[in-house]
Amino acid sequence: FRTLDQLEPAGKRVLLRADLNLPVRDGKITDLTRIERLAPTLRELADKGAKVIVCSHFDRPKGKRVPEMSLKPMAEALSQVLGKPVAFAEDCIGPAAEQATAAMKDGGVLVLENTRYHAGEEKNDPALVEGLAKLADVFVNDAFSAAHRAHASTEGVARKLPAYAGRLMQAELEALDAALGNPARPVVAIVGGAKVSTKLDLLGNLSKKVDVLVIGGAMANTFLAAQGKSMGKSLQEGEMHDTALRILEEAKAGGCEILLPDDLVVAAAFAANAAHRTVPADGVPPDMMALDVGPATVAAVEARLKKASTLVWNGPFGAFEIPPFDTATVQVAQTVAGLTTSAGLKSIGGGGDTVSALRHAGVSDRMTYVSSAGGAFLEWLEGKELPGVAVLETA
Ligand code: 3PG
Repeated sequence: FRTLDQLEPAGKRVLLRADLNLPVRDGKITDLTRIERLAPTLRELADKGAKVIVCSHFDRPKGKRVPEMSLKPMAEALSQVLGKPVAFAEDCIGPAAEQATAAMKDGGVLVLENTRYHAGEEKNDPALVEGLAKLADVFVNDAFSAAHRAHASTEGVARKLPAYAGRLMQAELEALDAALGNPARPVVAIVGGAKVSTKLDLLGNLSKKVDVLVIGGAMANTFLAAQGKSMGKSLQEGEMHDTALRILEEAKAGGCEILLPDDLVVAAAFAANAAHRTVPADGVPPDMMALDVGPATVAAVEARLKKASTLVWNGPFGAFEIPPFDTATVQVAQTVAGLTTSAGLKSIGGGGDTVSALRHAGVSDRMTYVSSAGGAFLEWLEGKELPGVAVLETA
């Protein structure tokens, strides 16, 4: 794919697909990470004299102008991060967008209103694609985290205009390639989370690609129960037992070691600082539930990590939001950060609540790469083609 190295943007109108789908609570943006990660591409384009026209979706307004889902607050946040004025257009196509882009100066930045205010965005409607494409000379996609959507502003417009990957997109793709495309071996993957059923394709794909697959989180309970262990009141999916056993068999046949918990931290209730104790994986009392993995499991994981060259991490080991059930996640995260610095481990994490777990452990800036993507990172771990990336590769 082409990057900004191949683009001479001076004087050009650049349509920049960003992911300004920021977390918001009570009308306030709670985390600026996605804007901070976007800033290098924006600065580079503006400093080189482009007119930068930023487009993005926000939330899921389903084709309606839902006022709470306006991108206006994101334009203001962007202006603060960049330290320069950012203009705003009340629509992403049509007269408002056309007048705003016509008024731009070289080096200027404009944010267009939410692309999902138009139903055509999610339908990849040629009329919306046309409306966006006529605003610009070239298209730069820096929204890896929205690349699993074949929408007008991610896929459609990349076919209409000369298309390039922005610096964040480039960094994400390079990190992912180092993790699974062409990794240094041995590769360890840690997969946690609540349900086997939502991570079937992911487990299937990873077990074909990595050397050791560590399974944690509540989904490990399902595997342990499938092996005949009684799990007490633990969260688990009874209907997934056959599937879990099949995953274990297929991984073994393919030469992938699957590591399940040896010991578990159990409590009677899912509550902060609940009375808890460590039991062997086959010793969960009937009135207790597993909320974290225990120290023997952490040691087993650390032993694999010390021999590894690459780590892919998705999903926490336990209920990390409530102490002390964050213990295993924090401990392993700190080991990973240490090995990344001291032993050259290539550590790549992302997807779902992995980023907040790594941040909680204080290591998110000590890993080789932490993805800004949620769903897109997961689909990529599943081995699926991401339409927003595929179209850049053929551009
Ligand atoms: C995300 O936050 O993961 C992306 O912005 C995609 O959002 P979506 O799931 O609403 O398409």
